[in-house]
Amino acid sequence: MRQVLCQNKGNIYVQNGCRAGAGNSFLSLSLRTSTIIKQSFTMFNRRTRISEILKMEPAEQQVTVMGWVRTFRNNQFIALNDGSTNHNLQVVLELGKFDEELLKRMTTSASLKVSGTLVASLGKGQKMDLKAEHVEVLGDSDPEKYPLQPKKHSLEFLREIAHLRFRTNTFGSVFRIRHSLAFAVHQFFNDKGFIYLHTPIITSSDAEGAGEMFRVSTLPLINPPLTEEGSIDFTQDFFGRATNLTVSGQLEGELGATAFGDIYTFGPTFRAENSNTARHLAEFWMIEPEMAFYDLEDNADLAEAFIQYIIRYVMERNAEDLEFLRMRLLDEEKQKPQNERSELDLIEKLRFVVENKFERITYTEAIDILLQSPAYKKKKFQYEVKWGMDMQSEHERYLVEKHFKKPVIVTNYPKDIKSFYMRMNDDGKTVAAMDILAPGIGEIVGGSQREERLDRLTGRMDEMGVSQDELWWYLDTRRFGTVPHAGFGLGFERMVQFVTGMGNIRDVIAFPRTPKSAEF
Ligand code: 4AD
Ligand code: MG
Repeated sequence: MRQVLCQNKGNIYVQNGCRAGAGNSFLSLSLRTSTIIKQSFTMFNRRTRISEILKMEPAEQQVTVMGWVRTFRNNQFIALNDGSTNHNLQVVLELGKFDEELLKRMTTSASLKVSGTLVASLGKGQKMDLKAEHVEVLGDSDPEKYPLQPKKHSLEFLREIAHLRFRTNTFGSVFRIRHSLAFAVHQFFNDKGFIYLHTPIITSSDAEGAGEMFRVSTLPLINPPLTEEGSIDFTQDFFGRATNLTVSGQLEGELGATAFGDIYTFGPTFRAENSNTARHLAEFWMIEPEMAFYDLEDNADLAEAFIQYIIRYVMERNAEDLEFLRMRLLDEEKQKPQNERSELDLIEKLRFVVENKFERITYTEAIDILLQSPAYKKKKFQYEVKWGMDMQSEHERYLVEKHFKKPVIVTNYPKDIKSFYMRMNDDGKTVAAMDILAPGIGEIVGGSQREERLDRLTGRMDEMGVSQDELWWYLDTRRFGTVPHAGFGLGFERMVQFVTGMGNIRDVIAFPRTPKSAEF
């Protein structure tokens, strides 16, 4: 049945045909045959999103749209975008109907309010046009100064104008998908009965024990108060102790899991590691579920189901944006030599990931595969391969991209390259850790079963120089009703990279923080 947009007393409905003079009976009408899609009381609520309009059939209905000019040609055709979709609405200005002065103001990125009639388009490329009856410039945009001209710009250039890059098709698609992924994260855990726990941003502990933290302090930088030994006296600092931005919410998450059973966190985390790569940010978002009564295998099962769920969600909700990014990537890959191009396009890759089980291997098996590989035999790896090493990105990528060609869950790493809280295996050499490696990304998830045995945990803390005094509250979970438990952390931006195919992590977060860069 044909659906049209109808306006009645300032409300806009989607319904099966508009009734003239339905007047005051809109309530009963709306209950029976139409859905109110906008309850409008002010001018600005009265707009209809272009994404909604493009789903309609043009049937001479009146609408008001608001957005930004992408292009204006022949003094007649405006491509208007409002950020709800990459598709522009073509606004047609009848020749002679509008003032010359007004036409001059239809410059790229000027903001407009346009009211008019939706009509079937005479032109190619779009189903319908908006025949403008009333055009108002809400904000002018000086074409001499506007840096984002309607042409292809490099991603590097767009990073320098990150405050405007949302107005491009690429970033429109990336950030609509990022939103959907975030929404799907909450939906997945909510449906499973997990509690969303907000863990602190400012902490006094170093969860990962890696020491890569940003200090939080209000002490003066010049001549700070000193202790008798000559070190900075943090007892005089704001919190009366040394504090930093959190590197992970896990330790607090474990406190939640040992009361609620299943919790997750989803918040910003900070690492002062000086890694200038396409996979590292100093400020990134992490999702950290933590589950009581879980072992490593349960943990891996959950992580796999979670990743597949959020990808599937985006494939259903953001098909148009994914298609745009698929084409963008194909175009980008044309610049590469044939042997470096992906075998699957973006959507085929995502479909493959949701439809196939992830590979599961132990760290020891991974090292064996690397040692047997043609790449190793031909000395293609830059870094040495031997049991006990922390796998480098080249090794991880060999495993997922060349050997298995799918996501791989690697378990049971040597204890010396992992954190103090991971559960010791019976061999005394490895811990119940798991990393998930994804094609094109490398490590996307890091997690483990946790050491629930108090004596083993304190033993490891002593060996690794982690203070028991400072983490007395963490150790209490092992003192009072300890349980087997496990959890993991998914790097949200790496996930957005995987789903959008964006090569650089700086292009999937609105305002990236990296070494020597914190603009905006
Ligand atoms: O492996 P990581 O360091 O693990 C943890 O922080 C654990 N506490 C998680 C847990 O078990 N609850 O970090 C987890 C993930 C990595 O796999 C990676 O995806 C992402 O966080 N990540 C980063 N993403 C962007 N920039 C960085 N500098 C990142 N460091 C880690
Ligand atoms: Mg890790």
